[in-house]
Amino acid sequence: MNERYDYKKYSDFDRNQIINKLKNNLTDSRFEHCLRVESEAIRIAINNNYDSELAGLAGLVHDYAKQMSDDKFKQYIREYRLDENLLNYGNEIWHGYVGYLIIQQELGINDSRILNAVRYHTIGSSHMEKLSKIIFMADYIEPNRNFPGVENARKITNSSLDEGVIFQIKNTMIYLVENGNKIYPRALDAYNRIVDLNN
Ligand SMILES: [Fe+2]
Ligand SMILES: [Fe+2]
Repeated sequence: MNERYDYKKYSDFDRNQIINKLKNNLTDSRFEHCLRVESEAIRIAINNNYDSELAGLAGLVHDYAKQMSDDKFKQYIREYRLDENLLNYGNEIWHGYVGYLIIQQELGINDSRILNAVRYHTIGSSHMEKLSKIIFMADYIEPNRNFPGVENARKITNSSLDEGVIFQIKNTMIYLVENGNKIYPRALDAYNRIVDLNN
């Protein structure tokens, strides 16, 4: 497990305090997932010449809001006048797309790169910074993931972070359509963007 950073540079709390908060907010398995995403984000960052301290912290906190109540998310959507269409979706979208605000308030993290990485970690975005790509992929391929194709996703991501992002966005679209799930329009924007980039 990584303990090279205390993360005080980017948060009002140090790593041990953040870990205690995560333990209070999350089930054990979700908490363990956060630690794996932290390590995976550090690994991918180093591979891509990116600041591994920023990546580690973003990975550690990315699911901080995952088990907040629906009411709390709805309250945030209204209070911050976010896209009202968010109310037609659920926790899968909210814990990132709204959860970043909760992280900002409760962990005192104000670095926009970290907040954007949390915001976009489940649906991607049409304009992803490098840290957003790192967290998007770290969450997808952390060592306990075992969906069909995960080995391929790991191989692609290890040779190209951008190709990994494209792989995940496409596969997620296919999954959502095949399962008859709604697609939040911002996720569609991310997909359209990669189609444009490839043409
Ligand atoms: Fe998540
Ligand atoms: Fe996650």
